[in-house]
Amino acid sequence: MKRFDNRTVIVTGGVRGMGGSHARGFVAEGANVVIADVLEQEGRTLADKLGVRAIFSRLDVTSESDWSATVAAAESAFGPVSVLVNNAGIVRFGPIAGTEPAAWRLVIDINLTGTYLGIRAIVPTMRKAGGGAIVNISSAGGMMAYPNTAAYTASKWGVRGLTKTAALELGRDGIRVNSIHPGPVRTPMTAGPDVAAAVAAEARNLAIARVAEPDEITRMVLFVASDEASFSTGSEFIVDGGVLLGPAPQHERARAAVA
Ligand SMILES: NC(=O)c1ccc[n+]([C@@H]2O[C@H](COP(=O)([O-])OP(=O)(O)OC[C@H]3O[C@@H](n4cnc5c(N)ncnc54)[C@H](O)[C@@H]3O)[C@@H](O)[C@H]2O)c1
Repeated sequence: MKRFDNRTVIVTGGVRGMGGSHARGFVAEGANVVIADVLEQEGRTLADKLGVRAIFSRLDVTSESDWSATVAAAESAFGPVSVLVNNAGIVRFGPIAGTEPAAWRLVIDINLTGTYLGIRAIVPTMRKAGGGAIVNISSAGGMMAYPNTAAYTASKWGVRGLTKTAALELGRDGIRVNSIHPGPVRTPMTAGPDVAAAVAAEARNLAIARVAEPDEITRMVLFVASDEASFSTGSEFIVDGGVLLGPAPQHERARAAVA
């Protein structure tokens, strides 16, 4: 028996970076997975590669009709949905005074409103499944402040608050709702030259002085989504290498630089 045998799972932003890793992780654990993303060609290629227990559904998380179509596709391919991972997200950099309202709205729309629309769309099918788990991907930035990412930070604090309200509302339906808070992770989001340099600099100061690989976050997602986490809801699961601890002491940083 695997942890997700015959369960239907939707992973948003399930093509690239962490989402792709989560999709692969769920398939390996016996789940039937819907890779839901705006990247159609890459999504279909990944689904083909993962085999008969994976399909691709085109989903822009800001679109209510896309959500209806994705839930319908999941039900018709695999049956009622037991797990939703709200992973899709974007980041835009810049000081508040230099952030255009359109950029602010786009980040809030995808990261926060997209998560709300996902929860709203998934509840009926999860009730049909007899309960389930919603895993919302926030960030260490949903627990503290980073400069030059106001919309992102606000969206990730919003996801944390939304998670708690949803957990209270849905507990009686047997639906657990939790948030995950990664620190720096090696994905396309952090791959641009400027961002990669800033992320590497942040990582050098951490107690665990490196950037995480996506599968290190996947393992936490799988745990939180599984029955192993049966008594956890409305909670924050931190996978940040020590971001929230603050910078490691100087001599520890020097040792990491040598290693
Ligand atoms: N990479 C990090 O260091 C880091 C740290 C903390 C939290 N996170 C969060 O983890 C999640 C995944 O990040 P990642 O680094 O893998 O990002 P990524 O950019 O590598 O991948 C994001 C995925 O989301 C998809 N996507 C973007 N907009 C979408 C939309 N409107 N509808 C559906 N799909 C959409 C993209 O096509 C892509 O497949 C995000 O929520 C991000 O904020 C990332």
